[in-house]
Amino acid sequence: PVGAQEWVPPQPWSIEKLKSAAGDCQGCELYADATQTVFGRGAPNAKVVLVGEQPGDVEDQKGLPFVGPAGRLLREAVDDAGLDAGDVYITNAVKHFRFELRGKRRIHQNPGPAHITACRPWLVAEFSLLQPELVVILGATAGKALLGPSFRVTQQRGKLMPWPASAQHPEDFPVAEIQALATFHPSAVLRADDRETAYRTLVDDLKVAAGAVS
Ligand code: URA
Ligand code: SF4
Repeated sequence: PVGAQEWVPPQPWSIEKLKSAAGDCQGCELYADATQTVFGRGAPNAKVVLVGEQPGDVEDQKGLPFVGPAGRLLREAVDDAGLDAGDVYITNAVKHFRFELRGKRRIHQNPGPAHITACRPWLVAEFSLLQPELVVILGATAGKALLGPSFRVTQQRGKLMPWPASAQHPEDFPVAEIQALATFHPSAVLRADDRETAYRTLVDDLKVAAGAVS
């Protein structure tokens, strides 16, 4: 893939301007089969940016991030953690839905490293514009996208980490004093055998996030 860079508009940016430009992105092949680009959404002055994997089936149809079952769980957890929804912006590492057709059903497929790399300029632009205090990494794909291939959510979740010291490409995130915190992806909570415990862990991690921002 050629990557999203050539679709990123010149500055000055706004979320609306970036979203509109991302609507035309053909930086990798995922645009071809998906319904539309699903850009991030939230407060323009958000202190906390939550980064998921990629839009799911419902998000692909509605054009908005985290509006399906995983999104419902995530918004509830954000609320239960005492994070103000007005302080939060939610986005994904990859902005088109990757799926495999089985009959009429569209089955979610994980994005590959090439999709994550291709889509990265949008995430960089969102971070540059929002200048968040804290980035919450939801699950393994976002973790690998932001912290590198050795990221393991089970080992690194729940702890505030400095940024960009541990990031894979610190040079392209022009963000001053930013922290990161990894936690479970809400879809992993939905799939967990012990959903209650997984949910409580997600909420506890988000409480750490809430306590870390002014
Ligand atoms: N899962 C994600 O990672 N992102 C969404 O937007 C929806 C489900
Ligand atoms: Fe562009 Fe990202 Fe969509 Fe690929 S997934 S076409 S890089 S917006």
